[in-house]
Amino acid sequence: MSRTWERSGSGPPVLVLNGPNLGALGRRDPGHYGTLDLDTIMSRLAKLAAELGLAVEGRQSDHEGEVVEALLAARGRGVAAALLNPGALAHTSYAVRDAVEAAGIPVVEVHLSNVHARERWRHRLLIAPASAGVIAGFGPLSYELGLRAAAELAGRSR
Ligand code: DQA
Repeated sequence: MSRTWERSGSGPPVLVLNGPNLGALGRRDPGHYGTLDLDTIMSRLAKLAAELGLAVEGRQSDHEGEVVEALLAARGRGVAAALLNPGALAHTSYAVRDAVEAAGIPVVEVHLSNVHARERWRHRLLIAPASAGVIAGFGPLSYELGLRAAAELAGRSR
């Protein structure tokens, strides 16, 4: 499955890119991920983006290759910065890590849960060294904090 949320607002566009299983937010393991779905998170981000003078657009894919393609295509489409919740690809994917490096835009990695307080295999973050920074453990607020960071970074690279 994959989904897109159209660009809304004006200002430097920020792509909110979600990897595998994040389309199930709201019904998936609410103890770790809360009860808000991606539509609700995206509409909160659209509101915050308007305050910050940014445009925002979204994408969720369960396929590693589509996450890579979205990262590589972002700059050419005028995207200024990205928020990336890679899901479990954070722990497994050298391909996404390389795409973050190759994207040519700042990428802020976000996680809803505090991956460092969970199973050991979640402590290894392969993409993080290529990311501008990582925000984890604040639920949907991780995305909002990430958008604030992306706003700073987009401003810096303009
Ligand atoms: C996640 C954490 C990952 O370990 C997990 O595989 C996810 C969600 C988070 O947002 O907390 O799918 O990225």
